[in-house]
Amino acid sequence: MILFKKATELSEYLDAQRKNGNTLGFCPTMGALHAGHISLIESSKKSNDLTVSSIFVNPAQFNNAQDFEKYPHTIERDIEMLELAACDILFIPTVKEIYPEGFAHLKNYELGFIETVLEGKFRPGHYQGVCMIMERLLKIVLPQNLYLGQKDYQQCMVIKKLIELIQLDNRIKTNICPTLRENDGLAMSSRNLRLTHEERKKADSIFKALSFIHTNFEAGNIEVLKQNAMLMLKESGFTVDYVEIADASSLEEIKIWNGEQKPVVLIAAFLNEVRLIDNLILN
Ligand code: PAF
Repeated sequence: MILFKKATELSEYLDAQRKNGNTLGFCPTMGALHAGHISLIESSKKSNDLTVSSIFVNPAQFNNAQDFEKYPHTIERDIEMLELAACDILFIPTVKEIYPEGFAHLKNYELGFIETVLEGKFRPGHYQGVCMIMERLLKIVLPQNLYLGQKDYQQCMVIKKLIELIQLDNRIKTNICPTLRENDGLAMSSRNLRLTHEERKKADSIFKALSFIHTNFEAGNIEVLKQNAMLMLKESGFTVDYVEIADASSLEEIKIWNGEQKPVVLIAAFLNEVRLIDNLILN
């Protein structure tokens, strides 16, 4: 695996690779890698000549300073895992390299409705920060294929929208890879490393609540399902930001399901200081 720290060096190297006819797959990460990230690398390796990954804990996308400070860093282990997965190229820039002018004055991306709900509502500014870093990374790497995890369902929609806004949609295909889960159903996430032993035992309630909605989902009024799922989470010690059932392609809330729309159920909840998110496509 070749390591790059400088954006210009990486893009020159990748330009040469493209000229040689090599296709590029890109898996951006914030490190603290787990099997979910490695599954993105594996998907990329199946369809591209070269797989590029990046590790950058993007300060511009944290709306909560404490969350940023406590974000897990496991760089040596991450590099070993990427080597083992035969990732070809790794980009590890510094904050200065990515934001030479700082990131106080963010460009404004017109994301529309998807930025006003769920994560957009509960983490103001978060998606602007995600767009900022993703525009920078995508323009450096210019991959044919981008790989993202379904666990961050709304983020996948936001990044697809960004790719349209920056007019790279005819060059970059976004591939959404399934969420990987621990044996008890907990979605793999870098933030799981922050859970104490006691919290980890309770954390499977998110998947239980999602599965409860999945099993009992039927046409008609679905409000009571959400209320019950919320109760399950609260009883396990979670503070709930939302349990929402929404149209899978627009994220507009569904109150009464007509039996035809494709819905997704999304949850965000805190176990003490750690905020976890997850989702399941219904029907
Ligand atoms: O999902 C993540 O790890 C990050 O939000 C991403 C897409 C790498 C941008 O910083």
